[in-house]
Amino acid sequence: KEIYIFKEVMSTNTVAKFFAENKVSDGTVIISEKQTNAKGRSGKPWDSPLGGVWLSIILNPRIDYSKLPMITLATGVAVAKTLERLGIEDVEIKWPNDVLINGEKVSGILTEAIAKFNTIESIIVGVGLDVNLDLSDFSDDLQGKITSLKVITGKEFDENDIIRTFLEEFEKICKLFIDGEYENVLNQWRKRSYTIGKIVEVRKPYNKTYDGYVTGINKEGALIVEKIDGTLEKVVSGECIIKN
Ligand code: BTN
Repeated sequence: KEIYIFKEVMSTNTVAKFFAENKVSDGTVIISEKQTNAKGRSGKPWDSPLGGVWLSIILNPRIDYSKLPMITLATGVAVAKTLERLGIEDVEIKWPNDVLINGEKVSGILTEAIAKFNTIESIIVGVGLDVNLDLSDFSDDLQGKITSLKVITGKEFDENDIIRTFLEEFEKICKLFIDGEYENVLNQWRKRSYTIGKIVEVRKPYNKTYDGYVTGINKEGALIVEKIDGTLEKVVSGECIIKN
């Protein structure tokens, strides 16, 4: 596998997109020590100074759109297992992609698809993990919304070690995915779910906001939300705010 390491880029996802458009091999990894214009979900900025793990992986799978959400879930499992291998307990995943320790977010995933004529050509999986950051490293916008391994555990970690472990876990879960072991991937996610069993507010772009109870995730990785009137909704994208 090819791994490109940069000192500073605007966003590893942007670099990865450029690489993907110029045909690189499946599994190519882009890592940067710092990002100056990193992207979070829903167009939000993402702080990426020195001290974190910021990377993007380019995948060229032959999958259809319905499998896309599951790639994000699988990546969340790989991040969670990486943290567990560091000896960290109480690791959970908040749907779709936030990895939490003791209920506090330390990692986010931004999956982007490059499609031509309605078929997926490449997928960019961007992973950010706040490792040796202090709370003062986060911008005002992210204060209170995110923390780091150092803040939670009081210890510093070797970023390269974490990257190695994560790439191993990512490869393992990708293998399951390729072998069609979707239920296995989903069960690993369910086991660590922070969201199942909670009351949530679902916000989708251009749609009305509604509240409901999360009963689980289905075989496509969509969240199943039972509304107050008893009807079931499938949520594949959008924001999901936990209310209890
Ligand atoms: C989130 O909002 O939770 C997703 C954050 C994703 C951040 C990562 S850092 C590496 C990659 N490059 C980016 O610009 N974003 C992702």
